[in-house]
Amino acid sequence: MEKITYLDNAATTAIDPEVLAAMLPYLSTHYGNPSSSYSIGRQSKSIIEACRKQVAELLGVSPLTIFFTSGGTESNNTAIASSVRDLNCKHIITSPIEHHAVLKTVEYYCLREKITCSFVAINAAGEVDYTDLDAQLQAKKKEGITCLVSLMHANNEIGTLLDLPLAAEICKSYDAIFHSDCVQTIGHYKMDLSAQRLHFASASGHKFHGPKGTGILYANHTTGVKPLIYGGGQERNVRAGTENVAGIVGFTKALELSMQNYEKDNLYIRNLNLQMRNGLASEFPVMEFNTPEENSLYTVLNANLPSTVGDELLLIYLDNLGICVSSGSACSSGNDYRSHVIRALDKNNDGTTIRFSFSKQNSIADIDFAVGKISEIIKTQFA
Ligand SMILES: Cc1ncc(COP(=O)(O)O)c(C=O)c1O
Repeated sequence: MEKITYLDNAATTAIDPEVLAAMLPYLSTHYGNPSSSYSIGRQSKSIIEACRKQVAELLGVSPLTIFFTSGGTESNNTAIASSVRDLNCKHIITSPIEHHAVLKTVEYYCLREKITCSFVAINAAGEVDYTDLDAQLQAKKKEGITCLVSLMHANNEIGTLLDLPLAAEICKSYDAIFHSDCVQTIGHYKMDLSAQRLHFASASGHKFHGPKGTGILYANHTTGVKPLIYGGGQERNVRAGTENVAGIVGFTKALELSMQNYEKDNLYIRNLNLQMRNGLASEFPVMEFNTPEENSLYTVLNANLPSTVGDELLLIYLDNLGICVSSGSACSSGNDYRSHVIRALDKNNDGTTIRFSFSKQNSIADIDFAVGKISEIIKTQFA
């Protein structure tokens, strides 16, 4: 196959060459174990601490609140486990459109640990009903039950954004623990986590041109976060296991670059997104977008195309042309059911649902090529 047109950047991104260059020494010459006391070990330890300091500065928090992990899934699991096990949370409020890294974890604790859980109401755009969140927390507070609220900052399939300060404010008024899965926003927005009054936040390096298998858990000083798995004393006794030094360096470099170039990249990617929205709307005047025009993640556009071709078949046609897009979260692709996110939205989504997601490495030509091919396939074969 000739060229790949990669429009699935919410699933993962290609590593930035500068990130790779920063990592390489830690995959070759600088191989010391950070727990070893000799010089090459101390060198690894000191780069990890320098990375922690830099990540903390970029996110506006103390280095003591940053823990390096293997990614978003582990960070989400640790935050939820810690809340249930150590912070006395007996009820979890989440939304039906969270990533499975949250939904399946919540389900696990509800089934095994006799924790109760409920979904906050959402509207057809995937926006949280804050009055419902308030009412649910108020009811639990009256019963004397401590709650964990776990709500994602941006939905990975449709891009809908949470009003983080408002959600945090509501949680605070009922003394609830608040975790946000920020996997699609940290690295894509300038974030001052200390201003957000969160207890926990999760991020993942491969969503912003860093390496896969890297991430952070932000846990504020009140949480006294404890390990999910036990072993050595790495990460101040919170995350056992020899550190992924090259990964930590890569995560940090990727975050640094994305914050340095934020204004430029944000504008550029917004423009790609608009080009796709306008291109599809002009080819298919009756189509609907699942991504709200306002208040949504600029890297994602979810479209409900007016065709009976079906999500999976269209993906195959596009794949044959080198166009990579998805019908939902990467973790559920290949399953023969529709995305849980699309099903949870209270609207008619009978058409063919495709998620496009963009990065600084895409061009307007990529967008025009994809729009042209989708139009050709649908109009000539599935009209
Ligand atoms: C919103 C969200 N949360 C969590 C994850 C899981 O992150 P990771 O792949 O780093 O485990 C993803 C990845 O698709 C995601 O989009």
